[in-house]
Amino acid sequence: MSRFKRVLIIVGSVVTVVAMAVGGLFAWLWTGADVSTVGKASFDNALAIPPLAESTVDKDGTRVFDLRMRAGETEFNAGRKTPTWGFNGSYLGPTLRAARGEKVRVRIANGLDEASSVHWHGMHLPARMDGGPHQMIAPGGTWTPHWKVDQPAATLWYHPHPHGATEQHVRRGLAGLFILDDDKSRDLALPERYGVDDLPVIVQDVRFDGVKLAGGHKIMQNVGFLGDQTMVNGTLRPYKEVGDELIRVRLLNASTARTYAFGFPDGRAFSLIATDGGLLERPESMDRVQLSPGERAEIVVRMRAGERVMLRSFPQDNYGDAWNRRFGGGDDSFDVLELRAAGELRPSPAIPAALGELEAPDGKDAVRGRYFDLKRSGINGRSMVMDRVDETVTRGTTEVWTVRNSNGMPHNFHVHDVQFRVSEVNGEAPPAALRGPKDTVFLPNGTTMKLALRFTGPADPDTPYMYHCHLLYHEDEGMMGQFVVVDKGQRAHAPSQQTGRSGHEHEHEHG
Ligand code: C2O
Ligand code: CU
Ligand code: CU
Repeated sequence: MSRFKRVLIIVGSVVTVVAMAVGGLFAWLWTGADVSTVGKASFDNALAIPPLAESTVDKDGTRVFDLRMRAGETEFNAGRKTPTWGFNGSYLGPTLRAARGEKVRVRIANGLDEASSVHWHGMHLPARMDGGPHQMIAPGGTWTPHWKVDQPAATLWYHPHPHGATEQHVRRGLAGLFILDDDKSRDLALPERYGVDDLPVIVQDVRFDGVKLAGGHKIMQNVGFLGDQTMVNGTLRPYKEVGDELIRVRLLNASTARTYAFGFPDGRAFSLIATDGGLLERPESMDRVQLSPGERAEIVVRMRAGERVMLRSFPQDNYGDAWNRRFGGGDDSFDVLELRAAGELRPSPAIPAALGELEAPDGKDAVRGRYFDLKRSGINGRSMVMDRVDETVTRGTTEVWTVRNSNGMPHNFHVHDVQFRVSEVNGEAPPAALRGPKDTVFLPNGTTMKLALRFTGPADPDTPYMYHCHLLYHEDEGMMGQFVVVDKGQRAHAPSQQTGRSGHEHEHEHG
């Protein structure tokens, strides 16, 4: 044999061995990458229902709430104390509730040993009250935002928004619901007894590292943290006894990165009645609803007497290619919440055939368009900078925003202050699940959406609102931009950060 041949054989076998090792490692990673809790455990923990926050009404009619952010310990698993954060308790927060037309004021105290903020996700309010990264609350400090509720009934939520640390703060437990009511929704025959036939369902995925909540990202998980089990309202393996024929489920995906596709194992249809910003025009019958981080949906499910039915999250077609589905969580499935129906059920009135008119704009009167290219490295090629205003919009106008993801991984898109309407998905009319008022939309790779947004102010040229990917790891890394609402002819100014006002109430800017 020539020396050349021998070298060739040696090189060839080394290459083969390496290729087999890499292939084997990949096969091992691939088959181990999807997670399922379906059918694996019995659901024997009574579902915790977040308490309705107490409030008082001021002389001037303002409804006043108190929230205190603090560290604590939570027993997710009996006898094992997990360090967590919460509002007024050790994990999550109470449900705030107010009606359209009411003035609200929230006195927030930061009892943590690091700065944070509290953002009102989905709320239309002045930029200074928004609770984004420009309204930080120092450790030991307070912040008292106030505004007038002026939008339709909806299931909104609140959570911290410190730039670069939102994922950590939310994952540790800082999140809660903010339910809005209005006269129209009160007049509709929909299930509305909180915690009875109207259930708050805050879904999060978790992984335990000993007693601690794990937070790391696995190799090839480009979306961020993915847990290996889910909980609802902070309860692992929860069940809820129900006694009515129709149950309204207010779903909030409060996970930091995971997208779910909710439905029931027997394939039963349910009625989607509301999206992020409130009621649809009419209920839409469907058997799956997909929610990416930050999105909400209200569904009404019909129960049969005596049955136990699991709310489940199923593997998702609308998630991207096989690689993303496998390593990014799209192939995963979870048993989420078991509903246990009483032997005899109270009859519920039929769901109304019409729920009302949408207030979200349809875009026909749009005065300008903007384009947003979603990349993990930044939106429109720019990573978030606190003192740079990316977009300036004029108060009172409607715009159409085209949002595109061709970044090879899933993203979503959230806009502060507004509820918009999706007018197109990949050139077509939006599916039923995207026909209601929205503030957050899911865009798997290869998706282009057109959104119609109306900015009604108030104008504040000095204080920006945010738009960003709500996969919080991406947001923290800079997938966020800032827009300012100005009056016609006004110029936006570079924002100065309103931080560090420890110990002061700086709310006395009524106007
Ligand atoms: Cu739910 Cu900018 O956030
Ligand atoms: Cu928000
Ligand atoms: Cu993203």
